[in-house]
Amino acid sequence: MDKMRIRGGKALSGTVEVSGAKNAALPILISALLTDEKCKYSRVPRLEDIRTTLKLLSHMGVIVEDRLDQSEVVLSTPVTAQTEAPYDLVRTMRASVLVLGPLLARFGYAKVSLPGGCAIGARPINFHLTGLEKLGAKIELENGYVIATAKKLKGNRVGFEFPSVGATENLMMAAVLAEGETVLENCAREPEIIDLACALRGMGAEISGEGSEVIHIQGKSSLHGCNHEVMGDRIEAGTFLAAAFGTGGSVRVMGLRSEALESVLVKFEDSGALITRGDRFIELRSQGRPKAVDFTTLPYPGFPTDMQAQFMAVLTVADGASLISETIFENRYMHVPELIRLGANISIRGNTAVIRGTEKLKGAPLMATDLRASASLVLGGLFAQGETEVSRIYHLDRGYDRMEEKLRLLGAQIERVKA
Ligand code: UD1
Repeated sequence: MDKMRIRGGKALSGTVEVSGAKNAALPILISALLTDEKCKYSRVPRLEDIRTTLKLLSHMGVIVEDRLDQSEVVLSTPVTAQTEAPYDLVRTMRASVLVLGPLLARFGYAKVSLPGGCAIGARPINFHLTGLEKLGAKIELENGYVIATAKKLKGNRVGFEFPSVGATENLMMAAVLAEGETVLENCAREPEIIDLACALRGMGAEISGEGSEVIHIQGKSSLHGCNHEVMGDRIEAGTFLAAAFGTGGSVRVMGLRSEALESVLVKFEDSGALITRGDRFIELRSQGRPKAVDFTTLPYPGFPTDMQAQFMAVLTVADGASLISETIFENRYMHVPELIRLGANISIRGNTAVIRGTEKLKGAPLMATDLRASASLVLGGLFAQGETEVSRIYHLDRGYDRMEEKLRLLGAQIERVKA
């Protein structure tokens, strides 16, 4: 297993371009199941999760032209798709459950493994299933699989108990081919939902209201091919900004709209950073040591849970004590014992973490446990004096496109050590 070796303590500076957003690209690639025509996607990030998605789609009979070296993918799904998502693939990537909606809508049948627990919590899919039932699907659970059938999905009113990102996306992809109108209420409002709606509209879908709590969808009898460019990755951007801030540096991140990251930018400012919001760029300039700040993770437009671990890494070197409340996932503090190995002072009670900033962290061997936790450990290594080795970085490769190369462009001393 590869490791990341980091020599920390150096202020980062320079410009870096973000890749396409993982969390937008995954549902968008899966939406190609909704048509038999060619769908061409650009700015697709080179990530393990994308390769898993292509494997899953190809297992279903999708013809995959993999041009990931140019950040492009072309997909076409013949009529005879295999409508099953096996355990091995769903287990490695939970987003695989997003095939349920489109398969059911187009082929009337889907058999998808239940994802089971994952490192950051139980993560059930009950909202996806009750939503699909509302559109007329019959759902059965058998031998660890969800078996969903429907002769023809019918539009309906679906209210989500919680604004779940995945459930909103699954239902959007089901409703675009359902008969009549669907109204989705209490929807997730994340920018990635807006990008999925754009991609679906490019296929001829009739959708309005994405980005708000209520989405209206008028079902169509068929959809056509599309050309879509994936939005920039706001979490990758936030991670580079955090890296700059914790090292006392200045970095410009290119290739995304700043509004998508507003709740995080405000916290950087509260913590003493100077932020410039440009036309498709964001710049952060450190003004000395970060100051302690408090935040609570919330659905968009609140502070994203996917930035919690990275921001916590910054707060370990801040002046004063900070309080973080994690309200989205129940077990998302697995980076904490590892950051403590670097000398961070963090205590946890329930879903709250108290971080008492220390002036200096010291390098240590660390072990990554999940995707965003891995990113926070890399940041910890960049902030610490001396050498840090982060092992099990396959978690990092699931969601960051050549992170070490991009960090090196900013002056970081970081290298991948092949197993
Ligand atoms: C997506 C993102 C993930 C991000 C998360 C929250 C993708 C591929 N992943 O995950 O990076 O951290 O949004 O912003 O886009 N829940 C249920 N029942 C359900 C569905 C969700 O109880 O049927 C709960 C979850 O356990 C969690 C909360 O709702 O506590 C939010 O989950 P959700 O928004 O669905 O996250 P994902 O779509 O899995």
